[in-house]
Amino acid sequence: MKRILSRRQVRQTIKRLSDLIREEYRDKRPLLVCVLKGGFVFLADLIRELDMPLQVDFITVSSYGSGRASSGEVRIVQDITTDVTGRHVLIVEDIVDSGLTLDRLRQRLHSRSPASLRVCALLARRDALADNPDLADYVGHAVPPGFVVGYGIDSGEDYRYLPDVWMLEDE
Ligand code: PRP
Repeated sequence: MKRILSRRQVRQTIKRLSDLIREEYRDKRPLLVCVLKGGFVFLADLIRELDMPLQVDFITVSSYGSGRASSGEVRIVQDITTDVTGRHVLIVEDIVDSGLTLDRLRQRLHSRSPASLRVCALLARRDALADNPDLADYVGHAVPPGFVVGYGIDSGEDYRYLPDVWMLEDE
């Protein structure tokens, strides 16, 4: 495995993103929707760095199952319970890969008439960003192809506990 981001770099990135988000959402009491499972570590650090009035909810989706390749189908395993009508919603994702999960989530939440709907992703694929620079409103780092694990992100449900972000090398 190769380390691609240290915990220190992740902390600095979260600080940078938090400053931007705090500025935008001051006095708006945003609803942060964490995409599970992968997003839980990022959300936990992000809200404490934000240190401002906000609410959180969780949506569980799955497209990769236990394998390493996307099934191409995004399954909503568990939905949020908060009414998003008129709310300022910020989706919090660990990694945007093909962008399929985000597409589905955007459609789903948009249909419930939020006041605004934006996306914050710690990581996004360089290729996906090149194809669509507006993929996410706040992006921590662009990452090259390869299987990323750690900081909440798994491979077959392993590695989520790692404090740094790693790239799995071919076995
Ligand atoms: C991963 C990741 C994102 C999504 C990104 O979730 O956490 O939510 O895939 O891929 P996409 O842009 O190609 O749609 P996964 O389905 O592996 O579930 P997990 O978060 O429970 O690991």
